[in-house]
Amino acid sequence: MAETHAPKSYYVSTPIYYVNDAPHLGHAYTTVAGDVLTRWHRQRGEDTWYLTGTDEHGQKVMRTAQANGVGPQEWCDRLVESEWKPLWEHLDIANDDFIRTTEARHTARVQEFVQDLYDKGEIYKGGYTGPYCVGCEEYKVPGELLDGENGEKLCPVHKRPVEILEEENYFFRLSEYGPKLLEFYEANPGFVQPESARNEVVNFVRHGLQDLSVSRSTFDWGVKVPWDDRHVIYVWIDALLNYATAAGYGSDQDKFERTFPADVHLVGKDILRFHAIIWPAMLMAQGLPLPGRVVANGWLMVGGEKMSKSNLTGIKPQDLTAHFGVDAYRWYFLRAIAFGQDGAFSWEDFSVRYTSELANDYGNLASRVTAMVGKYFDGALPGATGEGAAEEALRAVLEKTVAEADRKIGDELDFQGGILTVFGFIKHVNGYITEQEPWKVAKDESAEGRARLATILYTSAESLRAIAVLLNPVMPGSSQKVWESLGAEEHLGPLAQQRIQNAGEWGKLPEGATVTKGMGLFPRLVD
Ligand code: ME8
Ligand code: MG
Repeated sequence: MAETHAPKSYYVSTPIYYVNDAPHLGHAYTTVAGDVLTRWHRQRGEDTWYLTGTDEHGQKVMRTAQANGVGPQEWCDRLVESEWKPLWEHLDIANDDFIRTTEARHTARVQEFVQDLYDKGEIYKGGYTGPYCVGCEEYKVPGELLDGENGEKLCPVHKRPVEILEEENYFFRLSEYGPKLLEFYEANPGFVQPESARNEVVNFVRHGLQDLSVSRSTFDWGVKVPWDDRHVIYVWIDALLNYATAAGYGSDQDKFERTFPADVHLVGKDILRFHAIIWPAMLMAQGLPLPGRVVANGWLMVGGEKMSKSNLTGIKPQDLTAHFGVDAYRWYFLRAIAFGQDGAFSWEDFSVRYTSELANDYGNLASRVTAMVGKYFDGALPGATGEGAAEEALRAVLEKTVAEADRKIGDELDFQGGILTVFGFIKHVNGYITEQEPWKVAKDESAEGRARLATILYTSAESLRAIAVLLNPVMPGSSQKVWESLGAEEHLGPLAQQRIQNAGEWGKLPEGATVTKGMGLFPRLVD
């Protein structure tokens, strides 16, 4: 008898964030994107697995803890519990696991992994001197440094002076993986996205890779090198391995096979090289399968610079959700910025889009459709009879909308494009209602008039049902409200179980469903 295997989960990861401070808009940007992507695939009916967590070792976190007068572990515990986990809950992030690199389930596996590489001769002892940025936790290539005002050299990301580190360290033979990596990029052109990120990576590898220092001996906040406890493992090696340890590497073989490798590693463009070069090389060295793709998002900018914890330019997501609500927040950044590009946040832009697209286009559609069913049919959804050209046209647009949104968001990670597609349909339905003028048809009390009114309202309600399904991954709160006000939950079951692919199938809401006018989806903003 053939063995049966559970299908592999669609596995999406975020970077694990440094806990040197509370999260800001930039971190939430990546994490919301991953959540939308995972929810989308879940609504395709796939098994999914969404991982996030925190990166707790290394100098950056250690120095922050010292500056705050607490030990590093206490500092991490405090920030994870009071800032990071609560924010993801607040933003409706449905992650399946949250890994902390100080957990034993992680540290023990990191030691085994590194020991294995050492035993295979992939790691050797050597020395290194070079410019190091603690903000990046990375040795910099001298050519990429900027000149400071007093002749000092600055990190191009953090714009702060680098330190010259001189250490006797252990090295990973990264230089030997250049040709294999280039071959892999060649065979998998979609491995690094977008195209600009791919080019950057390929060019970097073509210039030749140096071996990578994978241990530190000048401080001890890290995972001990198992064969030499005067060293701790370099924080990035420790951190990248979270993607394996959380998935059961070395502890739960079943889960590991069902989950690993990631289908999508979402990363900011600042940490592209780690994910697209070092991580695949580590996996190759260990004979493990490589991830599906590494997708880099751009930066949210403040005053022309990357918003950052280190430079204290972070805006807290809670400052925006207090004003706009969680759903609008999740929607806004994906809607306003093409994924992969940099973008600037502004209150004005958010307010304008909120009012025109969420409140006026989407919110009004929902409230007028449900209100008219209440007014003209006492809240019992009428059945459609005798559909005409306008209804057929609308259904055709819906079919196209579903296919296009599914491809853009689910496959291409073009969140902006997919959202615009759905909002294009919202505009179409609003236009349909404006043209059909149900409030005029309602004055015609003949059987024919009633039938026409029923058709218009059924068509509008069905459209709204499809919109709620398609927007659920992006705005689960408002979709749920629409779902309930259409009486859909009772007849069609939970919203999260509605398949994206079937969103455009017509006639799902039964005649007689109880429609209620819900509270406004997107209330008017008060200053
Ligand atoms: O780099 N705009 O952690 P980190 C957009 N611990 N995204 C931003 C952003 C901004 N202004 N600022 C941060 C680390 N991000 C490592 C990762 S993974 C094995 C280890 C997002 O706290 C973006 O995704 O500096 C970036 O890659 C991530 O936060 C870095 O967070
Ligand atoms: Mg950073």
